[in-house]
Amino acid sequence: MRWRDALTVDDFRQMARARMPKMVFDYIDGGVEDEFALAANIEAFRRKAFVPRYLVNVEHRNHRTSLFGRTYDRSFGISPTGFASLFRPGADLMLARAAAKARIPFVLSGASNISVETVAKAAPGYVWFQVYGARDRKITRDLLKRATGAGVETLVVTVDVPVTPKRTRNIRNGFGLPPRMSLSTVLQALLHPGWTARYLLNGGLPKLGNWQPYAPQGASALEIARVFACETPNPTQSLEDIATIRESWKGTLLVKGILHPDDAVEMMKLGADGIWVSNHGGRQLDRIVPSIDALPAIRQAVGGEATLVIDSGIRRGADIAVARCLGADFAFIGRVTLFGVAACGEAGATRVIELLTEELDLVMGQIGCCDVNRLGPVDLGLSVQ
Ligand code: FNR
Repeated sequence: MRWRDALTVDDFRQMARARMPKMVFDYIDGGVEDEFALAANIEAFRRKAFVPRYLVNVEHRNHRTSLFGRTYDRSFGISPTGFASLFRPGADLMLARAAAKARIPFVLSGASNISVETVAKAAPGYVWFQVYGARDRKITRDLLKRATGAGVETLVVTVDVPVTPKRTRNIRNGFGLPPRMSLSTVLQALLHPGWTARYLLNGGLPKLGNWQPYAPQGASALEIARVFACETPNPTQSLEDIATIRESWKGTLLVKGILHPDDAVEMMKLGADGIWVSNHGGRQLDRIVPSIDALPAIRQAVGGEATLVIDSGIRRGADIAVARCLGADFAFIGRVTLFGVAACGEAGATRVIELLTEELDLVMGQIGCCDVNRLGPVDLGLSVQ
């Protein structure tokens, strides 16, 4: 299939699957253990249905949404995803540019291959930065300093990775440091010559751009990745770390991976500017509540004024409408733009953003909603069952 013929986000998933070795595709597509959480995230969205209102003038429909003092053209942005150059060299930059073109935020992962300095420069005003707290707190402090220096205004601290998860697909495929070479790995590389040529022409395993300074000088990509793997996850991370980060980070601060209402309240008390309701796309804990199901209780706990964003399981524009109806101020997408970029670079990511926007726009028209900011459980008579 050519990307221009794609009608759904899932078409991009199929294209990505066809164009990458299984080991790499599965790293994006997979979840933890039995992948119950991965399926449950999608199912939880699909269980919600609208009760539409008709005879409302829906000729003009607004998607612009304000968040932390900025106005974005859509009600969604791109979640942080690490190691993206493995899917396509330069993917972090492609995603950032696609986001800037659509005027939506792109969150650069702390485990990105291209450094925060480079990516922030490529899409000024649209790049947020995500960190995992490192065991060596000096590294976290330095990453924050570098993000500030790069002009980043919004920091996302991910807290739902206290320990390394067991992602069965990755283990079976030999996806690790270093990747296990087997007959099947070689065969997969030969069967996907486009991906393999790009990988080899870009020097093989991509470096973790943000982590280079924390590895010995001249360290290889593998050695840098090992430093990262020793420093994160940090199982000793505690509320005190969030308080310390809050003290040193002068910009907007979001805490990502919150599902319990009490944790959300605690984060707000510590001075977070927003809560990112997420279960990491079903990649960490398999028996976990879908974030969309956790959202209403969190909204109730933090009150109407607090900023809540959500990800995990969004595959259709309708899912973004559901998220807004159930109390999110903004939604984020993880895998779907990765499939776009993996399948065909920046154009693919752009088309995925457009497809979701078109779908959301049609849902709004169909349910009698002219402004995405008015979606709510009762507003305009919209309701989600
Ligand atoms: C992620 N995610 C993630 N989250 C984070 O805070 N830092 C990271 O470096 C990564 N890396 C990462 C890599 C890949 C390949 C995936 C698929 C995901 C989680 C991500 O930010 C987001 O929470 C989920 O992807 C959302 O779920 P969906 O939209 O993929 O269902």
